[in-house]
Amino acid sequence: MMGLEPKNLHSSIPVPSVQELASLQLEAVPSRYMRDDMESIISTVASDNTLRVPLIDMTKLVDSESQETELQKLHAACKEWGIFQLINHGVSDESLRNMNKQTQEFFDLPSKEKQRWAQKPGSLEGYGQAFVTSEEQKLDWNDMIFLKALPIEDRNLEIWPENPPKFRESLNGYSQDMRQIAVALTRFMAMGLEIETRELCAAYEEGLYQIRMNYYPPCPQPERVTGLTPHVDIPGFALLLDCGDTPGLQVLKDGRWIFVEPLDGAVVVDMGRITEILSNGLYKAPEHRAVVSKSKERRSIVTFCYPALSFKVGPAMELVKLGSPPLYKTVTVEEYLGCFFNPKPDVPFIDTMKI
Ligand code: OGA
Ligand code: NI
Repeated sequence: MMGLEPKNLHSSIPVPSVQELASLQLEAVPSRYMRDDMESIISTVASDNTLRVPLIDMTKLVDSESQETELQKLHAACKEWGIFQLINHGVSDESLRNMNKQTQEFFDLPSKEKQRWAQKPGSLEGYGQAFVTSEEQKLDWNDMIFLKALPIEDRNLEIWPENPPKFRESLNGYSQDMRQIAVALTRFMAMGLEIETRELCAAYEEGLYQIRMNYYPPCPQPERVTGLTPHVDIPGFALLLDCGDTPGLQVLKDGRWIFVEPLDGAVVVDMGRITEILSNGLYKAPEHRAVVSKSKERRSIVTFCYPALSFKVGPAMELVKLGSPPLYKTVTVEEYLGCFFNPKPDVPFIDTMKI
């Protein structure tokens, strides 16, 4: 999910497929995509390699010999970056590769075929573009399909692709794999924060898992567009699978945009607002965006992980007792989502959660 502040988040105005636009081999991007409001997108990127997104190894978190050290690394990564690469997360390469392949085959289908699973008026789910709320709005160089995967009752099978034939089966397995990572990670984050783990893990066991698959076609003027507008995710965290070796995801760190280099087999963990609130502001939900390339397409599969709807999101008791006052209100996930989807005019969403 994105931390934009448009007027109506329930639905998205239909706009052309960027994939189709890219196939026209235009020399310049249409003005609707041209970001004259931004300085050159690429040139703001840090060029040195000294700033690397942290790497966390799940096997070291599990192993009692290395746990203490790796927990400290995790804690530091969440505080200082809010984003890290997770390796040895327990989900097989085969599962990741399989979902990657299904996603590629889906986006490779003819446009008309993909339209069978297009967003319906009044809904963000399905194939299309997210959060287009006005005809004047600048558009991202991105097509996507957004599907609710867990709990099973939330699935809207009408817009779950049946082509490629193994897509549904793969997404079913993949969403459970992502839940497994989410629950394990939650336990270690809670240990790092020294807060109660049981209730939080249970909330992620029962949680909501919503999957957004992004397709970024090659772009004739990559320095003039955004693949995805800078935003902060709103769930507990997002688990992002970079599907190839073309970098595109960038995170804002100390005022500079840093590339998250794709790492085979790794899952990128990006903190969302719910974790920021839970940690009473100790863990930061970072601003991030996607940039595009002139010659290469890119795909990503992003799983937004939320605790169960009835779970109360607020600063953890243990953290407030340590002497710092709560910075955020406590509301259920359901109320939290209600606030996000019905924003107050001119008030940034996170401010409505502050005390
Ligand atoms: C998102 C997101 C980044 C990417 O979908 O919320 O941040 O690299 N995606 O696709
Ligand atoms: Ni995001």
